[in-house]
Amino acid sequence: MPKTAGTYHIPILAEAALNWWLTEPSGRYIDGTFGGGGHSRMLLERLSPEGRLLAFDRDADAVAHNPIDDPRLVLIHHNFAYAPQFARFLDFVPVHGVLLDLGVSSHQLDEGSRGFSYRFDAELDMRMDRQQSLTAAEVVNRYSEEALTRILETWGELPRAAAVAARIVEARRGRPILTTQQLADVALPLKPRSMKSFRFLSQLFQALRVEVNDEIGSLRRFLDGMAPLLAEGGRMVLITFQGQEDRVVKAFVRSDTARRHGIRLRTKNVVRPSWEERRRNARARSARMRVLEKVSAHE
Ligand SMILES: C[S@@+](CC[C@H](N)C(=O)[O-])C[C@H]1O[C@@H](n2cnc3c(N)ncnc32)[C@H](O)[C@@H]1O
Repeated sequence: MPKTAGTYHIPILAEAALNWWLTEPSGRYIDGTFGGGGHSRMLLERLSPEGRLLAFDRDADAVAHNPIDDPRLVLIHHNFAYAPQFARFLDFVPVHGVLLDLGVSSHQLDEGSRGFSYRFDAELDMRMDRQQSLTAAEVVNRYSEEALTRILETWGELPRAAAVAARIVEARRGRPILTTQQLADVALPLKPRSMKSFRFLSQLFQALRVEVNDEIGSLRRFLDGMAPLLAEGGRMVLITFQGQEDRVVKAFVRSDTARRHGIRLRTKNVVRPSWEERRRNARARSARMRVLEKVSAHE
């Protein structure tokens, strides 16, 4: 049964994100993380007939599912890291607003066979774009113990990362670790007593997913590449779900690139979903939104 926009993914911080994202109804906008198209649909409702939206998703499921039939929207199956190149090539500049609502969609988590969630026993895949070759099974079975430790520590902030990496290396000597269940069985005995199993496993799976999809590298390339393409007064609305992503955003604000292109942080404090939204939508619990704005174009 085809999914409706609401069952594919519920947009997070929808009203607040839209109010920052939209600055000029007849402008050019980019949605780097189309997903179920929730944020895009809301933007299109407020754009004038001249407004344009260029959207990206690296997951073919999101592109195939696209519920929006609107000539002002062009949806591209690609990593948003290349959005700046597409924008230049398509003469889609300057850009009045970009939105990144990072991480995975509910659809990706709920499709057990994709291997994103420890809730389903499946092959260790975790690729957002199934055309790429690197899978979570490759990372778990081929990376060195040092590399695994670094990934678990940095991308997952996993307690006892070195011990978990050592245990993975030990276990895979017997037979390769090919499923989500096998991985959970290998790692769980090292969970600190004070930590809930679901939290430990979420952090472990998050670490692998971020590595498989080069999520931090994509975010850095996007921010650097978009900086010169923003219109004066144009904004970047960035919704992150883990500490490392938020640190990349904060580091970008302090970077030479941001300074050179007159980009400043507009939200003094990070914007969090309301208690009510967090109650209704578990995925909203870790969301943090920051907004950047080009205040003056030096170049
Ligand atoms: C949290 S969902 C976005 C939901 C969307 N805002 C909505 O309202 O339905 C994130 C989506 O971004 C996509 N994605 C994540 N990283 C990406 C990247 N580097 N390039 C393109 N798409 C990406 C994922 O495949 C997923 O579909």
